[in-house]
Amino acid sequence: MNDQDYTAVFTVDQTPEEAFAAINNVRGWWTGEIEGSTDKSGAEFTYRYKDFHYSRQKITELIPGKKVVWRVVEASLNFVEDKTEWNGSEITFQISQQGDKTEVRFTHVGLVPEHECYNACSGAWGSYINGSLRSLITTGKGEPNQMRIGIIGAGNIGGTLARHLTRLGHLVSIANSRGPKSLTGLANEIGAKAVSVTEAGNAGEIVIIAIPTKAVVDLPKGLFANVSSDVIVVDTGNYHPELRDGRIEAIDRGMPDSRWVAQQIGRPVIKAFNTIFAKSLLEKGAPKGAPGRIALSVFGDSLDGKATVLRLIDDLGFDPVEGGNLDNSWRQQAGTPAYCQDLEAAALRHALEEAVHERIAEYRAAEEARIKKYMAAQKT
Ligand SMILES: NC(=O)c1ccc[n+]([C@@H]2O[C@H](COP(=O)([O-])OP(=O)(O)OC[C@H]3O[C@@H](n4cnc5c(N)ncnc54)[C@H](OP(=O)(O)O)[C@@H]3O)[C@@H](O)[C@H]2O)c1
Repeated sequence: MNDQDYTAVFTVDQTPEEAFAAINNVRGWWTGEIEGSTDKSGAEFTYRYKDFHYSRQKITELIPGKKVVWRVVEASLNFVEDKTEWNGSEITFQISQQGDKTEVRFTHVGLVPEHECYNACSGAWGSYINGSLRSLITTGKGEPNQMRIGIIGAGNIGGTLARHLTRLGHLVSIANSRGPKSLTGLANEIGAKAVSVTEAGNAGEIVIIAIPTKAVVDLPKGLFANVSSDVIVVDTGNYHPELRDGRIEAIDRGMPDSRWVAQQIGRPVIKAFNTIFAKSLLEKGAPKGAPGRIALSVFGDSLDGKATVLRLIDDLGFDPVEGGNLDNSWRQQAGTPAYCQDLEAAALRHALEEAVHERIAEYRAAEEARIKKYMAAQKT
């Protein structure tokens, strides 16, 4: 062990025995598929998170109320060049009584700053240990469904999503057009990481694009070239040709906004979060079952991708509604009956149904007229 090894420490009111039990309940606090026994000395268990991370741990020390040590027997980290960086490292938990409190000291011996995975791995450990494991010990409930989420665009929608997603315990990397330095304040305030657009695109399991439609063509070429096909890309955009984006011929001819975005970035996208004003997204989330809970719909071609985004919508405090495939996403474009009306689930489904394909341009024009009027009223 040296002072460069990644360490996280926290203190709780619970007993050392309670902390020890929670640590050994690995499925309760670490995301991913875990196979094997996690609470027997000498046992081995594997951890797999999608295509990103596989590792096999042997439990080499298990001293009740005092210490847990796992040796990483083999590992494959698919987001760094040397996929074996964890091999031979040791993951240790030291538990000690400090007055009437219990201290848990986590150290990943061998996870040091010169490792390529240090930033990503230490960020993830920090959240699992200080967030999920601590919560499991103190409340009996861990937060193992943490995801790494990149957000491109830190304005009204991107900034609001980042704020809520960090609050939910996800690891959020956020980028804008001006570079990470311009985002340090927001990132520090909400507990996100300010990064470049390229880093946000490569941040993890979900990438949310929350920029003006016209700016999509300015994203770095090949942004998603090395991003696993498992990664879900979400488009929050609305095309505003008169007010902001200029004319995009393919969309004007009838291509759904998000189909065009998918073509530009060379990746399938899920259309979501474009039908709620940022202020409602910020303020109007409500617990499941709350009367009047606002519903948000999702369109896209990947069932898995939609399922993940629908779950996220629920976690954010909105009723999730599956809309259909991406070619039908015109049903929730700007100005349609489903657009930014803060509807409940049944009303939202009805509004999506009611939309008329021939009226797409008319809906959009009406929405732009509404915004113009609103902006004019703000000036007076
Ligand atoms: N506002 C809403 O209530 C709302 C609701 C639903 C959907 N939408 C849609 O969501 C999208 C984002 O809207 P918004 O209101 O959040 O916009 P916004 O407040 O104007 O913010 C736009 C963000 O995009 C970033 N950006 C612009 N060009 C970029 C580029 N080439 N690379 C990286 N980042 C870039 C900007 O960064 P810089 O500041 O550094 O330039 C800014 O952080 C739009 O398509 C909008 O129509 C908005």
